[in-house]
Amino acid sequence: METDRQIDNSIYETYGDRWYTAYDDPVALLRAENRVKFPWILNKLQAMGHSGQQILDVGCGGGFLSNELARQGYAVTGVDLSPESLRVAKRYDTSGTVRYDVADAYELPYPDRSFDVVTAMDFLEHVDDPARAIREFSRVLAPGGLFFFHTFNRNPLAHLVVIKLLEWFIQNTPKNMHVIELFIKPEELRAYCAQAGMEVMALTGIRPKLSTISWNMLRTGIVCPELEFALTRNLLLSYMGVAKLGP
Ligand SMILES: C[S@@+](CC[C@H](N)C(=O)[O-])C[C@H]1O[C@@H](n2cnc3c(N)ncnc32)[C@H](O)[C@@H]1O
Repeated sequence: METDRQIDNSIYETYGDRWYTAYDDPVALLRAENRVKFPWILNKLQAMGHSGQQILDVGCGGGFLSNELARQGYAVTGVDLSPESLRVAKRYDTSGTVRYDVADAYELPYPDRSFDVVTAMDFLEHVDDPARAIREFSRVLAPGGLFFFHTFNRNPLAHLVVIKLLEWFIQNTPKNMHVIELFIKPEELRAYCAQAGMEVMALTGIRPKLSTISWNMLRTGIVCPELEFALTRNLLLSYMGVAKLGP
């Protein structure tokens, strides 16, 4: 997609341990979101008969999801363009089993059909051609494999809440951490998956639990440790889902 504002992915190379420790930064929101994403994914994996299999986590960043999945016994490979993020992810991998590789989502250094599951959390809105990335994911997925995603919807409310409110209220939110042009409508994501031979099986919205947002957080710009996210049927802001590759 043509966009006049470039997304800035360079921030991820600068976080270091702040991936796991910072509250004065939107990375604290990612950690809080993972506390909802991970159980949803684990539940779906178990319900869809995928246990103990090969998982590729694309754009894994500091490894929040990779490391949790590995603790459950999955064989996980995490890839990201940011070598420094991968070093942090490895340090926090208490299972000691995750393989972390520097790689570009567009050209994954793995053979066709080499994974049972691909995950891409808060990732598709960070690349300018998500359809191309999804085609690459379907190449490395085995027939019947699952693709889990999380991204943001594109509409004026998401622009206000996910971009503007973050810039106004959360300390150290970098300019162009997100750009509205790269947000993805659910029907577009369904179409990208279909073009890659995958069918979306489930979608759910994610939203912050309003009761866990303190006035202090709004006043100081520091994310409170109690902040929680919850699942919702409403897909207007952010959503995750799972698609299945055909036989
Ligand atoms: C918002 S972070 C999400 C990190 C992690 N998935 C999570 O949910 O905590 C987006 C990540 O995508 C990575 N990234 C951006 N473009 C990429 C590409 N083309 N290939 C691989 N990783 C990429 C960034 O370096 C960053 O770590």
